[in-house]
Amino acid sequence: MTAPVPPSSPARLRRSLLSVPAINDRALQKAHALDCDGVIFDLEDSVAPARKAEARDNLKRFFTETPLRDRERIVRINALDTGDADADLDTVLALNPDAVLVPKVTTPADIVDICARLDKARAPQGLRVWAMVETPRAVLEIGAIAAARQGQGARLDALVVGLNDLRKETSVLPQPGRAYLVPWLMQVVLAARAFGLDVVDSVFNDFRDGDGFAQECAQGRAMGFDGKMLIHPAQIDAANRHFAPGEAEIAEAEAILAGFAAPEAETLNVIEIGGRMVERLHLEQAERLMQKVRRISARKDIA
Ligand code: COA
Ligand code: MG
Repeated sequence: MTAPVPPSSPARLRRSLLSVPAINDRALQKAHALDCDGVIFDLEDSVAPARKAEARDNLKRFFTETPLRDRERIVRINALDTGDADADLDTVLALNPDAVLVPKVTTPADIVDICARLDKARAPQGLRVWAMVETPRAVLEIGAIAAARQGQGARLDALVVGLNDLRKETSVLPQPGRAYLVPWLMQVVLAARAFGLDVVDSVFNDFRDGDGFAQECAQGRAMGFDGKMLIHPAQIDAANRHFAPGEAEIAEAEAILAGFAAPEAETLNVIEIGGRMVERLHLEQAERLMQKVRRISARKDIA
């Protein structure tokens, strides 16, 4: 018998996750006025090796003096096998963000390792772990990596695809449509869904190409991703739009909720709505979708 999969966490908004280099004070301050669902404070690739300590200090100052409110705060550390990881983790423990994003994860042992370090430091359970999937080995082992959530990797909450590294490691060329990458991307989505994780699509480098970005958002949404990692504020609106439930989807979810709420449906597992069969399993999906819709309206009220 396989262990039961823990239920998914409540639906969170993860449509637009903007990477902000922790070295860049101006960009950090800019984040306050941006409408992204989450900010990934980056200590890794956007910070030169000689400036890692300065970036950590920046982040500490930012979290203390001008903390970001009302959206998820994720800190991306350097890879666990680098000399920077320990100091990065100390920073994470001091700041207590919503999640730590671990780059270059290769095996489930990496997830267990980071969770053990957080547990040992008595980090609150609310501090979650997100994993970058950006090495060939991670794609090969993605099922086992995602499954770590069932055991000693229980803090694992989301997978984030990193195509810049994956392309570099595999020699797959960047092409519109990502045809040669789609099989790997779908494996990541599948693994995330099998173990109740959220899954975030990769960055799109050409931030001046709005049409290309919109196409990739639409593709990512169709593939089942929850959202996209972003590099520039100009990408936020399109990501928010593409990864939000559409009007037709909302109307359908409302009809399903109403259909199953009717007294005559109380003992039914299958009902008919508008000439189509709807099963009780669609009810859970509809509830999750409406949870997201409510969170989007709440965000609009705040803005
Ligand atoms: N977060 C917050 N603000 C950002 C930003 C980001 N990621 N990227 C750009 N901005 C701000 C700029 O500071 C600038 O603000 P200002 O007008 O008040 O000066 C404004 O948006 C317009 O920026 P623009 O001039 O178009 O871009 P740029 O040349 O300043 O920066 C990049 C371009 C690519 C260097 C920058 O977007 C960036 O560093 N992105 C994140 C890179 C990253 O995190 N990489 C690692 C993950 S893959
Ligand atoms: Mg990377």
